[in-house]
Amino acid sequence: MQTAMTSCFMGVKPMVAARPAKASARRSVAVRAGQYDEELIQTAKTLTAPGKGLLAIDESNATAGKRLDSIGVENTQENRRAYRTLLLGAPGLGEYISGTILFEETLYDNAASGETFIELLKKQGIVPGIKTDKGLVPLVNSNNESWTQGLTGLVDRSAEYYKQGARFCKWRAVVNIPAGPSPHAVTECAYGLARYAAISQAAGLVPIVEPEILLDGEHDIERSFEVAQAVWAETFKYLADQKVMLEGILLKPSMVTPAAESTKRASPDEVADYTLKLLKRRVPCAVPGIMFLSGGQSELEATLNLNAMNQSPNPWHVSFSYARALQNTCLKTWQGEEGNIKAAQEALLKRAKANSQAQLGKYDSKLEDESADTRTFEKGYVY
Ligand code: 13P
Repeated sequence: MQTAMTSCFMGVKPMVAARPAKASARRSVAVRAGQYDEELIQTAKTLTAPGKGLLAIDESNATAGKRLDSIGVENTQENRRAYRTLLLGAPGLGEYISGTILFEETLYDNAASGETFIELLKKQGIVPGIKTDKGLVPLVNSNNESWTQGLTGLVDRSAEYYKQGARFCKWRAVVNIPAGPSPHAVTECAYGLARYAAISQAAGLVPIVEPEILLDGEHDIERSFEVAQAVWAETFKYLADQKVMLEGILLKPSMVTPAAESTKRASPDEVADYTLKLLKRRVPCAVPGIMFLSGGQSELEATLNLNAMNQSPNPWHVSFSYARALQNTCLKTWQGEEGNIKAAQEALLKRAKANSQAQLGKYDSKLEDESADTRTFEKGYVY
C-alpha cells in the first residue's frame, strides 16, 4: 500500500492555472464508498503527526483581497501568488506543518519560482488540501443566517482535486449565536457537512468538518457551550446517517469561548475546560484529530488556549488549523516588499513553532511580544 505521503504527489503534472473540465463534458466519475478507506486513514495519520498542525491559506480571492488591502497591496493574481509563495516557501515549514489548505487558484498555479505549488509542498513534506465549499449565501426564512453552497458538482470537482494532488479538503459552515440560532440553520449546517464528508471520502479526500460557531455577539462562555453541544450532536447524527467513516475525517471546531463583545474574558484554562468537556461529550474517539480554527482570537490567545488543552492526554490529536493566528504578523511584516520576505517567513515560522509546541503541551510564552496579542476578529466573517 502506498503511504499518504507517497501517494499524495503521484501522477501530478506541472500545470499553470488549469481548471477542472466542465462537469457537463465528463459524466464518468465512479462513486464507490469504501474504496479509499485505507488511504484516508493513512492521510489522517500523516496530518495528525505529533507536534504538527495545518496552515489554512484557502482565503477566497475576495478575502485575500481584504488581507492584501490591509497592507496596501493590490489584489492581483501575481500579488496573491507572491504572498502564497512566501508562505509555502518558508524554509523548514514542514517541521511544524503537516498539511495546508489551499484555495482552488493555488492548487492549479505555479509559485513565483516557476515550480507548481504542489511541487513546492512536496519538497516541504506538506500534504496539499483544498477548500471545496463555494462560500456562504443567505438562508431564506432565517434570522439573517447563511448556508454553505457547493454540493452541486462536488463529486466531479473532488475527483479532479484528487488527480491534481489534493488529499484532504475543507468545508466551512457557520452558526451565528445571536441570530438564535434558528433550528433549521443548525440542521442545514450539519446536514451539508455530512453530505460533503461522504462525497469527499468516496473521492479519496479526508474531509475536515468545520461547523464554525462565530465569535459574534455579547454572550458568555456558558451560552457558547450550550450551542456548541447542540451543533455537534446534530453534526454527528448526520455523519452517522451518511455512513461517514469517522477514522477518515478531521474536525475543525471553534474553541468554546465568550463572544467577542462579551464583558467577560476567559482564561486559557477555562477555555480548555469548556472545550474539552464539549469534545468529550460529543466526539467519538475514532476521530483522529481536532484541528481548531482561530476565529478572530489573537495569535497569542490561540496558542495559549491550545497549549492549555494539551496539558494531559486526549483521546484525539488536539491541534491547529489556523489562518489568521498563523498569518497575521507575517502579513504585516511583509508589506508587499521583496526585502521583507525573510523576516515575514521568520514571523510565520515563529507562530508555527509556537503552535507545534502548544500541540505537545510544551509552549512557553516568555519569548512573545505584545504584537502577538492583537485580535483579528471581524463581525459576520466570510471566508
Ligand atoms: P481562522 O483561523 O482565521 O479562523 O481561519 C481558519 C479557517 O479556515 C476558517 O474557515
